[in-house]
Amino acid sequence: MIAKKIWGLTLVALVAVGLSACGGDASADGNDEADAASAQVVAAEADMDMAEAEMDAMPQELPEGVTAAMVEEGEGIYGGAGICMSCHGATGEGIPNLGADLTDDEWLHTDGTYESIVENIMTGVTSQESSSGVPMPAKGGAAITDEQVNAVAAYVWTLSQ
Ligand code: HEC
Repeated sequence: MIAKKIWGLTLVALVAVGLSACGGDASADGNDEADAASAQVVAAEADMDMAEAEMDAMPQELPEGVTAAMVEEGEGIYGGAGICMSCHGATGEGIPNLGADLTDDEWLHTDGTYESIVENIMTGVTSQESSSGVPMPAKGGAAITDEQVNAVAAYVWTLSQ
């Protein structure tokens, strides 16, 4: 017991000596440096968060002929004029016995390429082709232009990436 106490005291003393060794002006500078270093770490973390957010929003490489503007426009069409959301859900994860999941990499009616997604949306899915027997009308039955189909296909393509 006593031996332990002595060791404990010695440790405290050693730490105290260690602290005072870098005392005075040096310690003020040291703290500044430490603050600067931790500020840098925080900044680096913020950078990483931003990079991740950008990667989430924008897949690495868009297919040929697809622009970021089209993807953005397509997102609006998906939940708006295209009425895709009503059968495929707000997040594109599908609705059982209705629209298929568009976020996974399992495709029932396309091969996952941008071109095949455009084609699928243009023609729809017949009740014979549909896994649930529920058909998808051409263009989802919505009154959207071919350009809007291209844009919404661009958005759907990003969902599965
Ligand atoms: C009336 C409901 C309905 C609407 C509206 C609708 N879909 Fe579909 N969609 C379906 C059904 C049903 C399928 C086939 C699901 C199956 O086979 O299980 C399908 C399939 C698809 C597929 C093929 C998925 C695959 O796995 O190959 C894509 C892509 C797609 N829809 C995109 C869209 C887009 C984009 C819109 C909006 C323009 C839209 N759909 C609107 C019902 C709908």
